[in-house]
Amino acid sequence: MRVGKLAGVLAEAEAELSQCASATDLEQLRVKFLGRKSEIIAILRGLKDLSPEEKKAVGRETNQAKVKIEAWLAEAEVRLAGVASGVTAGIDYGLPGKQYPTGKLHPITRTIREISDIFFGMGFEVALGPEVEEERYNFGALNFPPDHPARDMQDTFYLGEDLLLRTHTSPIQIREMLKQQPPVRIIAPGRCYRQEAISARAYCVFYQIEGFYVDRNVSFADLKGVLTAFAQSFFGEQVQLRFRPSYFPFTEPSAEVDISCFLCGTKGCRICKYSGWLEILGCCMIDPNVMEAVDYDPEKYSGYAFGMGIERIAMLRHKIDDIRLLYENDLRFLRQF
Ligand code: DAH
Repeated sequence: MRVGKLAGVLAEAEAELSQCASATDLEQLRVKFLGRKSEIIAILRGLKDLSPEEKKAVGRETNQAKVKIEAWLAEAEVRLAGVASGVTAGIDYGLPGKQYPTGKLHPITRTIREISDIFFGMGFEVALGPEVEEERYNFGALNFPPDHPARDMQDTFYLGEDLLLRTHTSPIQIREMLKQQPPVRIIAPGRCYRQEAISARAYCVFYQIEGFYVDRNVSFADLKGVLTAFAQSFFGEQVQLRFRPSYFPFTEPSAEVDISCFLCGTKGCRICKYSGWLEILGCCMIDPNVMEAVDYDPEKYSGYAFGMGIERIAMLRHKIDDIRLLYENDLRFLRQF
């Protein structure tokens, strides 16, 4: 009886249809397995000669086989249509691409780069130094007397007798001056550490950028020119500078620089605390003692130095009122930049 052949027909149909590679072959297979002369149709035609019970059983089995073959035909058809249009099993080139989120630079990194770019334009080169620093570079060669309060353990993270986490970027001045002879014109950004009580304005980790220039006849006027050019380029052409006398062990004289508030134009606002001015950096002429510590002849050379806190600059620029936001990595904050 022909019904016995059904299993063989199904196996053959499945194998041939799954490998069928063209529309013409597919048409031939359709005729072969479901056409007028196919085994399935022959069985269905023979049903009339069977007893009612046999008719029922054979009919059901043959119809199930027919449905299976029709499904394989449809599958092969879809597969072949896909190949023609670039869609292959599992890969649909027509689907829209996945949206991957793009990372952005942290506001501190951006600020360092923007400041550096301005100084590159004025002939400065960049130098870096270690965060774990020797006491003689962080303090000694910078003319800090042995009993200077900044050396106190309360302020400085000591790692050993003479080893500490640098409290400022000024030791890079010493390292670079020991390495090369004037003229040296360098900016040096980097991370610094101090044991501060953490608040909206102070953090135990922070960034500074140091700048200095040593050559023959470097004067205070050169410093004023460079800092004015920097401040106007960074904060806006209308910004004015104010130098206030101050004290740092490694500069003589020493000064702090304020810029006129770029938000209110010295009228007074919340950001400048109604003073009209914003302090942005410390600076001045390199102390002859520092020159001697690096074997530069202070009779022959002079130089200026300045240092500023990156967070303060970034906070002013972007009107951020809490320094901790810069260190918490909260994406809701970071995505705004
Ligand atoms: N190192 C100083 C500080 O951490 C900042 C500073 C002031 C750097 C004056 C300088 C400078 O180069 O001339 O507070």
